[in-house]
Amino acid sequence: MGLTEDRAVACVLAPASYAFPVSRFLVLPMTSSCASIDLAVIGGSGLYNFPGLEDASRQRVDTPYGEASGDVVQGDFAGLRIAFLARHGESHSLPPHRVNYRANLWALHSLGAHRVVGVNAVGGIRGDLGPRVIVVPDQLIDYTHGRYTSYCDVEGAEVRHIDFSEPYTESLRRQLLAAACTAGVEVIDGGCYGVMQGPRLETRAEIARMKRDGCDLVGMTGMPEAALARELGLEYACLALVANYAAGCGDETEISIEEIFAHLAAVTAEVPRILAAMPQS
Ligand code: HPA
Repeated sequence: MGLTEDRAVACVLAPASYAFPVSRFLVLPMTSSCASIDLAVIGGSGLYNFPGLEDASRQRVDTPYGEASGDVVQGDFAGLRIAFLARHGESHSLPPHRVNYRANLWALHSLGAHRVVGVNAVGGIRGDLGPRVIVVPDQLIDYTHGRYTSYCDVEGAEVRHIDFSEPYTESLRRQLLAAACTAGVEVIDGGCYGVMQGPRLETRAEIARMKRDGCDLVGMTGMPEAALARELGLEYACLALVANYAAGCGDETEISIEEIFAHLAAVTAEVPRILAAMPQS
């Protein structure tokens, strides 16, 4: 599956703000939408719709990379025009390795989004990152494999490289931290998110290795989302919701999936509170 030249020619050229150099293969079909999007939100496990969206409408977006995880739902929330997409689908039918990350980011970008917040369920590796803690990570390590990691893989396309020293957009991270502060929600500033393949949880040995590598959190969906956002020139940051201590990091010998979802349900409720305090752009 890929963007064919014929199709590319029929598309509208990407806007000038496009950080990833536009080649004849990298073009963006701009889909018309009535109001401009202030903030796009990709919901992870436990966040399948955005509560409190007013005047909401849903849209299926065709992308050259296939189907996104579902419809993009746009609506008004606390003075912001929000575009919401459930990463795993609204009924959680897509495991992390089967999410079409390229189509998801492309869909949001083609609707005019320029700031994207990824909400991700994670396990805590560092001792202070227990269940229900919220982290705005500043680094990541990608341990995933077999996923489409770039828009730059069309045969004949020029090979391009992006700077990814800082995988998250610092200004957007700062906005999230300030919004959390305004909303009175405690969040941790910074941390390294290790992205594993899933869908199984990790072994104790894997987590011990990740700890040695410098990971503070472990999840399954942070990549390639962050890199694809960078390729498209989107601002991107992550709200990592800790659902459990990672394998071998808590008192339990076994991690309870029921408990993970119970903690997620509780901590997810804080997400709209934080986002309600975000600036318009
Ligand atoms: N590992 C990976 N992903 C996760 C975990 C975990 O322990 N908890 C929630 N998402």
